[in-house]
Amino acid sequence: MAQVKLVDVEKRYGSFVAVANQSLTIEDGEILVLLGPSGCGKTTTMRMIAGLEDITEGDIFIGEERINDKPPKDRDIAMVFQNYGLYPHMTVNDNIAYPLKLRGQSKEQRNARVREIAEKVELGALLHRRPSELSGGQRQRVALARAIVRTPSIFLMDEPLSNLDAKLRVTMRAELKHLHHELGVTTVYVTHDQMEAMTLASRIAVMRDGHIVQLDTPKNIYSNPVDLFVAGFIGSPSMNLIEGTITKGRFEAPGVSIKVEAADRGDVVLGIRPENLELATGKGAINGPIYALELTGDATLITIREGASLICARGPADFEAAMNSPCSLKPTSDAKLHLFDKTSGQRI
Ligand SMILES: Nc1ncnc2c1ncn2[C@@H]1O[C@H](COP(=O)(O)OP(=O)(O)O)[C@@H](O)[C@H]1O
Ligand SMILES: [Mg+2]
Repeated sequence: MAQVKLVDVEKRYGSFVAVANQSLTIEDGEILVLLGPSGCGKTTTMRMIAGLEDITEGDIFIGEERINDKPPKDRDIAMVFQNYGLYPHMTVNDNIAYPLKLRGQSKEQRNARVREIAEKVELGALLHRRPSELSGGQRQRVALARAIVRTPSIFLMDEPLSNLDAKLRVTMRAELKHLHHELGVTTVYVTHDQMEAMTLASRIAVMRDGHIVQLDTPKNIYSNPVDLFVAGFIGSPSMNLIEGTITKGRFEAPGVSIKVEAADRGDVVLGIRPENLELATGKGAINGPIYALELTGDATLITIREGASLICARGPADFEAAMNSPCSLKPTSDAKLHLFDKTSGQRI
């Protein structure tokens, strides 16, 4: 069984803690996404699992076996790196075949398997080329093909799509998802792109400063972020976060008054996603001049200015109004309101 278990794993560089006392179980067959801003410890976590980085403290298990001291090549792991890591002097065919060659397969065996995989990732016509003769997306697919040419127990993918243009990234995302469905291999996937995390993951571990701050399904993280950091990180456009107070059962801030189910208190932050706000007729719960209108195709993002803050709503595609003209918004009838303690940032 290819369950991966980190128990109290810590990585320090001198006195700097890159990954802080982390315990995490990646279940057999799942795609667990490590998500967080640059420098939060994603790659380090991955490299420790791969055996490319020593562990300062703690243990890593694959299945029942403790693998702390096992060399990388014996861990039955395939990695895809952000920069592909292809061998420039080898053809596409030989790049993909390389892991099989290392394992002593005959040329006939290798070529048959490479053709099969190349079809899957649509590289069949390019097998004779060298990496320098390929586009970024094609190189990326070669790296992927090389990783899946044999079925390892575990895939580790470190920002494999981040060098691709936006359109190809979306296509490849679906490819990866489909591939995972077909192969069912336990996968740890690193990204700083929340959309990639949301769409690919069976579970997301949101990381910050070497810590996992929330580990849950994409759906739960989206609908119940544990703190302001996660709330602001997940979702596009971001959740509106408005500072204010709760007075007599209403959240109050300059230009804002919304009924909430919470006890009175000061210094709170109300979170509400753009899709949970709609246009109001007359005076709404949130009122201010229009700051920007952005047509996205199926919707218009309406941003209004409220004091020092900007509040964004997802409105109808045909919405039109003059800049700076007054606009009123209200929570939709099924709106989910999030309340956070302003000082600690924690969900109330
Ligand atoms: N070899 C190293 N020596 C010192 N610090 C390092 C080393 N490798 C990574 N770090 C630091 O550890 C932190 C986590 O790095 P990394 O895991 O690469 O982050 P991420 O992949 O999330 O962007 C960063 O602050 C980085 O500067
Ligand atoms: Mg990284």
